[in-house]
Amino acid sequence: MKATARAHTNIALIKYWGKRNESLILPTNSNLSVTLDGFSTETTVDFQEDLKADTFFLNKQVIEGDALRKVAVFLDKVRALSGKKIYAQVDSLNHVPTAAGFASSASGLAALAAASTKAIGLSLDNTELSRLARQGSGSACRSIYGGFVEWQMGEREDGLDSYAVQVADESHWDIRIAAVVLSKTMKKISSREGMRRTVETSPFYAGWIEQTSKDIQEIKQAIADKDFEKTGSIAEANCLRMHATTLGANPPFTYWQDTTMRVMQTVQDLREQGIPAYFTIDAGPNVKVMYLPEDENKVKSRLQVIEGVEDIIISKPGSGISYL
Ligand code: DP6
Repeated sequence: MKATARAHTNIALIKYWGKRNESLILPTNSNLSVTLDGFSTETTVDFQEDLKADTFFLNKQVIEGDALRKVAVFLDKVRALSGKKIYAQVDSLNHVPTAAGFASSASGLAALAAASTKAIGLSLDNTELSRLARQGSGSACRSIYGGFVEWQMGEREDGLDSYAVQVADESHWDIRIAAVVLSKTMKKISSREGMRRTVETSPFYAGWIEQTSKDIQEIKQAIADKDFEKTGSIAEANCLRMHATTLGANPPFTYWQDTTMRVMQTVQDLREQGIPAYFTIDAGPNVKVMYLPEDENKVKSRLQVIEGVEDIIISKPGSGISYL
């Protein structure tokens, strides 16, 4: 009982930053991302009668500890859905064109959800798959789809109405996203821990929620209109607001490093010179820069000379789940 699936990772333009239910992974606000064609995970799940426990290989290396537990806990949900008590060997390959730690739980859990359900004989539609992937890692529910994707927060306590929907497919709009990889990254606070601490302790959190529900309505219109400056400026402001909540947390923290700020400054300089470019940053120091295809050379040449930048990986809007 074996199946293989591929998923691309995604970058949020309107961030998911806080849970209203930790065990079901239900967010405090709807959020929106672009699926990226430059980063993917390919996962094979093989359920075998003679296995005594799940095993997990990432890029051909055997994985134990927390990462294995996360996979096994997720497979428990798949076993519960199917009614079959059978363990699996999971083989994942992260296709990331650098070794700089850009592996993502979004593509990983989305590919695991697709491959494991198919292997065990469940046939889920994309909504069901998104709901399931969400319970592995919130942002994974968006990677079921390509293009521009909204995770609708839902209202129900049981999470049945909390899943992603496609806002526009990957052919809707040819924009570019440069992932700027930094050469030195310090040990980070996971997004799970960071958002928990922020929700519990940051006095700025209420303001974040209030503004984000407006941002998501506006950015959907801007994406439909292909209004790049509006889309980029809403995304950049939303990112800055998310990161501001962490400075108000107790104890306070930030994901930014010196190079993070140099990249942000360069993006703002590019805009002053008339090149529309906007940044966004997740729960780490690396920066993603959005721009239009005709500005690629100018943007890339400015980013790659920044002190502390190791690599730049360019993506277009990518596709959703596929089975191999
Ligand atoms: C900052 O999806 O990694 O990237 O649900 O706890 O697994 P868990 O968190 P995760 O959080 C992503 C947070 C973010 C913003 C985003 O992707 O929307």
